[in-house]
Amino acid sequence: GAHVVHSWDIEWVTASPDAFARPVVGINGQWPLPVVEAFVGDTLQITIHNKLGNESTGIHWHGIHQIGSNEQDGPAHVTQCPVAPGQSFTYEFVLDKSGTYWYHSHTGTQYPDGLRGALIIKDHIDPYVAAYDEEYLLTLSDWYHGEVPSLLTAMFTTANAAQLRPPVPQSGLINEESNLVANNTFKFEAGKKYKFRVINMSALASVLLFLEDHDFIIIETDGQYTKPATASFLHITPAQRYSIIVQAKTDATRNYALQAVFDINPDFRNPRVGFPINTTAGLEYDASLPFPSQFIVPSFNVFDDFTLSPLDELPITGAADNTITLDFSLGADAAGLPSAFVNNVSYVHQKVPTLYTVLSAGGEAENPDIYGAVNPYFVKKGEVVDIILNNRHTAHHPFHFHGHHFHVCERTATGSGVFTGEVDCSNSPLVRDVVAVNALASVVIRFKADNPGVWLIHCHIEWHVPMGLSATIIEDAFEIQKTIDVPEEHFEICKAGCYPTKGNAAGSLDLTDLSGITNVEND
Ligand code: C2O
Repeated sequence: GAHVVHSWDIEWVTASPDAFARPVVGINGQWPLPVVEAFVGDTLQITIHNKLGNESTGIHWHGIHQIGSNEQDGPAHVTQCPVAPGQSFTYEFVLDKSGTYWYHSHTGTQYPDGLRGALIIKDHIDPYVAAYDEEYLLTLSDWYHGEVPSLLTAMFTTANAAQLRPPVPQSGLINEESNLVANNTFKFEAGKKYKFRVINMSALASVLLFLEDHDFIIIETDGQYTKPATASFLHITPAQRYSIIVQAKTDATRNYALQAVFDINPDFRNPRVGFPINTTAGLEYDASLPFPSQFIVPSFNVFDDFTLSPLDELPITGAADNTITLDFSLGADAAGLPSAFVNNVSYVHQKVPTLYTVLSAGGEAENPDIYGAVNPYFVKKGEVVDIILNNRHTAHHPFHFHGHHFHVCERTATGSGVFTGEVDCSNSPLVRDVVAVNALASVVIRFKADNPGVWLIHCHIEWHVPMGLSATIIEDAFEIQKTIDVPEEHFEICKAGCYPTKGNAAGSLDLTDLSGITNVEND
């Protein structure tokens, strides 16, 4: 494949996507951020230069498997140190699978300040090439007038512990713009077929996406081609993606609305005051005719992505070799602050990236006690692994697993949030890398452990990450030691210490931490 090379200055710029001007994290002086496009099999090489001045950074390539390249995955304190102001860092990895992906900051809670963009991996031979004429990109994102550090300060108060309310967005953006600034239009020609790649880059909001008087065909879930399935709307949680194909009308007598309904109750129960937020784009058949007005969304049944099957991926049948149960909930910690728990432990990232602990731990690498509060769970290469996600909380949580896509084998109705029974994964189940776990319900996901590495599994409501709603799957620690090669420059950036993202004094990192199995928790 080709070598696709980019050099990015990460720096603050001012933007006003909903008419309110505020600082946002830009790339090379621009925001919205560049769309990264390449072909499957290409190598992507992106060097970032942190010119933020006051925050560290780093980029996760959401949905990329990083086969054999775990050290390129991007989450700070998991597979690398944060990239401090003034430092540079080069990511280089092979794009192993086509599909719709995105990139976002995975340092602190930074991406709601704007560091998020689309990553499109095209096929040399697209199985659906005959099914559409043109392709559009459609990103959805909730938007906040406050900046992340102040939003976090407001969230982490004892007064908020009873509510556990994350920050509330002011706007819902389509392609990083709201109707207050501009009307997004997608040109439609009568009779043609259009593919839309849809990405929800929100920190909190789930989105219902409706096309006025146009049904469509779903062909992708999170980088996985699906068998074609007709739908009239999408329910898309933070970090999920879809591709759909829309058949245009045969005549061009008016323009139609594409309506994105952003809600902060991600499962659309009891909408709160001011919500949902409706953002409209136009399917523009004729530019001389008026932009469509917002339409009243039709009543709809609960959307069921569970019925979508992969086009070409075989089920992993039989019984699992290893089952990991993650019971999770939200609550207050000992200090009375909002907190999240996975099997009663609130994840705290460690100054020493967990991958480096694996590499330096020798024969102790499967001893959970050396890792600190990262909720480590161990699997062995070759195993078929089931992860039971038991949601003990009264709201839905979209869970993302790094390093793999997975089969969604089971999903229970709202009830206890404790899965009991047999896992049946034989029926060509939905394949994704982010799955919605409904309130007080369970989901069982399955993957084949074929990619040694340290992989986070976490709620992709970004405000729940600093609350601790994460766990770590350490996929064959001893294989990691044999196969994962961390470039020297990755260790170099650690020497500057882990610059904080919340505006506190810089914590320093003693390099002896890298050689030992003692972890230092962040301040
Ligand atoms: Cu898109 Cu760990 O996340």
